[in-house]
Parts: sequence; C-alpha cells; structure tokens
Amino acid sequence: MNVLAKTPVMRITKIKDHIGAEVTGVDLTKPIDEETRQRLYDAAVDNVALVIRDQKFTPAQYANAARLFGELMEDQNRRYLAPGEPMVSTLSNHNKDSQGNQAKVVKSATWHTDHTNQEFPPKFTMLYAVELPDSGGGTGVCNMRDAYEALPDDWKARIDGMKTANTLISSARTDIGNPDILRDQQNAKGGPMIHPLVRTHPERGTKAIWFHTGKTEKILGMEPQETQDFLAELLETAMRPEFTYVHEYTLGDMLIVDNRSALHKAGFDYDHSQHRLLYRALVRGERPE
Ligand SMILES: [Fe+2]
Repeated sequence: MNVLAKTPVMRITKIKDHIGAEVTGVDLTKPIDEETRQRLYDAAVDNVALVIRDQKFTPAQYANAARLFGELMEDQNRRYLAPGEPMVSTLSNHNKDSQGNQAKVVKSATWHTDHTNQEFPPKFTMLYAVELPDSGGGTGVCNMRDAYEALPDDWKARIDGMKTANTLISSARTDIGNPDILRDQQNAKGGPMIHPLVRTHPERGTKAIWFHTGKTEKILGMEPQETQDFLAELLETAMRPEFTYVHEYTLGDMLIVDNRSALHKAGFDYDHSQHRLLYRALVRGERPE
C-alpha cells in the first residue's frame, strides 16, 4: 500500500483590494522550485505587501529565504545585527543607542521608504517576527502607486519632476534624531543623494510617490521645513484607508514590502515593557528613476 506524504499546497490570498496578500503552505527553509519562487516574487510586487505565514528561521536561514527575492544589501546601521548573520539586522525596542537610551524614538515613526540616502535603495524590505508584545506594534504599509494614480491631475502635475535631496537625517528633524545617527550624519562624506519624488516601477512601469520623511533634507527649490510641511500635505492628500494595510504580526510571519510602490511606518502602540523583535533583511534595488 502506498502511503503518500502530505504535501502542503501553497496558497496566496488577497488581504485587501488595493494592498496585501497572505501566503500559507510554504516553508522557505526548504528548497522551492523556480515557478513557486516567481509566484512569490510577483505576489510581492503586485500586492505591494506580502505576508508569508508560519516560518521558523535562524538568522542565516532568514537571509537565505530573503535571497530568493534578490541580492541582499547591508543595513547601513551596523549596530544592531542579528547573531552571526551580517545581512540581517534587528529591530528591537530593547536596542539601546550608545548613550544607553532606547534606540527608536516614538516621534520618529513616520511614513518612509528605507535607505533613500543611498544610490541604490532596497527594492524589498523584509521583516520577520521573532518576539512580539501581546498586542500592537504592527507595520503600516501604504500602496503609493494607487495613491499616486488617485491624485487630482493638478497634484500630479505639481509633483512629477520634483527631486528630493536625501541625507541620513533631515536638518529639520535633528531635535528628535537618534544621537548616533546625527553623529554619522556629521561624519558623512559627499553631498546629499538626489532622487525623484515620483518614481517609475522598473518592472511594471507604474508610478508611485516615494520618499523618506526623516531623510528628505529638502525638495530641490524648497527650504527644509517648507519641505516637511509640503510632504505632510502630500501624504494627507494622497493616502486613503483603502490604500493602507497595517500588518499586526503573528510569530513566524515574514512581511515583504515592495519599496518601489510603498511607504511604510513602524507601530509604537504597544506595551514597551514587552519585547518586540523583528529581523530585517534588505534586497538591493535599482537606482530610482
Ligand atoms: Fe523602514
């Protein structure tokens, strides 16, 4: 009598019309075929945010799972790496800056995309839930492709062609910055990195609003504080609840964000005596155009 091993079937289910899909029935510590890999990749790109459930990774296994989506790049902050794995960093409310203070400042939780001060910012940011508070601490992701498309034409005309100048931290925000990052900024070599405020997706041809609130020193032609006010007004105009998904983690979730179509934001709405630990991996992207 043949006894067939039970093979799980990978399922991809949409979470909301405009953003988010969930994957079950796959274990990324095991080899997957090219068709499965491509389905996952396309689901991340098309849905902007993809949640792969029920994973169990060491830091090295997590890096290998992330490599299914491209070449990894180092987190530019080298202070909080995962044990034994230089391509994985930790996001933890127990991480301390060099002065012994909690490293993440609540006020710095703003909409952003990662590492915009670099020439080749990550195409995917991947977060894996290792320890969680009882509730809260989700990651918000907004589909900025659909947000851009829904803008009134006069707004599109206004922002198309705008350029941002990016640094580690904007001078308009130094009073709330992490002291280590401020010191890194003072020691940074070279000028700001110039990127488009509206970028075109290299694989889909769609446009999206794209910036880091805290790293945009200015929009070219504007002052730093004027820039912050303008970006706040732009988000107010462009973002709608239906474009946004807040992922409330379950242990073992791997959240993948296609940064080329998204902004994201950390949630601080949890009991900070409890530990929230995510592993982060970054997949190298193209130069935004
Ligand atoms: Fe981020």
